[in-house]
Amino acid sequence: MTSPILVTGGTGTLGRLVVRRLREGGCDVRVLSRRSHEAEDGIEFVTGDLATGEGIEAAVDGAETIVHCAGGPKGDEDKAGNLVRAASRAAHLVYISVVGADRIPVVSRVDRAMFGYFESKLAAEQIVADSGLPFTTLRATQFHDLILTVAQQMARLPVIPAPAGFRVQPVDAAEVAARLVELTLGEPAGLVPDMGGPRVYGADELLRGYLRATQRRRPIVPVWLPGRAARVFRAGANLAPEQAVGHRSWEEFLADRVSRR
Ligand SMILES: NC(=O)c1ccc[n+]([C@@H]2O[C@H](COP(=O)([O-])OP(=O)(O)OC[C@H]3O[C@@H](n4cnc5c(N)ncnc54)[C@H](OP(=O)(O)O)[C@@H]3O)[C@@H](O)[C@H]2O)c1
Repeated sequence: MTSPILVTGGTGTLGRLVVRRLREGGCDVRVLSRRSHEAEDGIEFVTGDLATGEGIEAAVDGAETIVHCAGGPKGDEDKAGNLVRAASRAAHLVYISVVGADRIPVVSRVDRAMFGYFESKLAAEQIVADSGLPFTTLRATQFHDLILTVAQQMARLPVIPAPAGFRVQPVDAAEVAARLVELTLGEPAGLVPDMGGPRVYGADELLRGYLRATQRRRPIVPVWLPGRAARVFRAGANLAPEQAVGHRSWEEFLADRVSRR
């Protein structure tokens, strides 16, 4: 067996697609997950938790290349810290971050409550960059799947609040996975150009698209969010219009994923 590529978060939305592509390319893959899983053809699972550090040594053992897709709404800097401490001999660490991580200022409790995720992603990026390991970091805009999850939750409400002035440029997770695998199999490249979806939408427009696709009717009410981070978000700090390299649109994604009631 050649050195396996470790994919943290290989059970998640993006990570699963990364694992599939790596396997299609003939790579042996190891997945780190907090739960135990049966091995699959060419895929080995190691149980561990990046937040506590438990099980990470075994996960990184002999893995020259690591694709770090594990993440959550909070604490990604701790996960990255534990990973780089254990992976001191890796030849290439690939990290997925979010567009705007470096532009959305989190300066108050209000900012942190709503945008702490961006602060945590930037801190994780810095840990990767300062680790001394050869690295590649890609920042992507929000995945279609995330917008769908939010829209599904919102549609349970009789009236849907939408943050006024917020825009999103959703991108297909499979396209991000393809780019991440291309980067993984290439030379370490540091911070590479952002990746965004094909079009920028208003938050209300995305919700309307979902309601239309599922044949629901709900009033959408704009809500003005306070704080400096929200102001910068309204100015488009989460967008990469000059890097609209994704092809699959929100409408195409919805047509495949959503059934009419
Ligand atoms: N979703 C977006 O719109 C978006 C946009 C840009 C960037 N990103 C970034 O892309 C990455 C993947 O996002 P996603 O939406 O695919 O996430 P996801 O579907 O929520 O999956 C999260 C993954 O992280 C793993 N994980 C979480 N906490 C962990 C821990 N403490 N130890 C080990 N593994 C842990 C989970 O594995 P187990 O549950 O199996 O342990 C799961 O595989 C994240 O870093 C995210 O910040 C996401």
